[in-house]
Amino acid sequence: MNDTIKILGFAGSLRKESFNRALLRNTFSLIPDNASLEIFELDGIPPFNQDTEKDMPEKVRDFKSKIRGADAILISTPEYNYSVPGILKNAIDSASRPYGDNPFDGKPVAIMSASIGMLGGARAQYHLRQIFVFLNMYPINRPEVMVNFAADKFDSDSNLLDETSKKLISELIKNLVDWAILLQK
Ligand code: FNR
Repeated sequence: MNDTIKILGFAGSLRKESFNRALLRNTFSLIPDNASLEIFELDGIPPFNQDTEKDMPEKVRDFKSKIRGADAILISTPEYNYSVPGILKNAIDSASRPYGDNPFDGKPVAIMSASIGMLGGARAQYHLRQIFVFLNMYPINRPEVMVNFAADKFDSDSNLLDETSKKLISELIKNLVDWAILLQK
């Protein structure tokens, strides 16, 4: 069993000022001592084409190897049109192929979302949970971290100001780490 639980985080937004990328960055100060967090940027993953899935671009190869090396996965995503953003779905699809070479298989995973709207990205989270079924991932159920009205919850340097959100993120990560330890036994 690993002493430190290695968490790999990635965000479903490429936007420079993304609230979801900011959520991930704010998580560094909220993780327990027995865990580490690395953030992978999805920028540069080309549109998935099954014709060339065995001839993987370097970026996808790198992504898959980081997923494989992680004990747990953390996804922070916006909701686009009531669902998962295309870049996130594309990254997951790309990494999950070819069939039989799915590095997400059996990994514990936690989700966070931030939205400028009232529901905080809830619908994208539930679509992601559906995707985890086929990937055979083990998602954390609680707490649900859905940062709504996100524009009011960060300062101009993308620091998360909202104490409730910080508390929920700490709980979520603790649960993810405990879950990862349990799954390693
Ligand atoms: C959105 N947004 C959005 N918000 C929401 O709560 N439900 C939704 O269905 C959508 N749909 C949607 C579609 C598209 C194409 C865009 C660009 C945006 C708003 C979204 O929550 C807001 O732009 C967030 O700030 C995006 O997250 P990042 O980039 O800040 O992480």
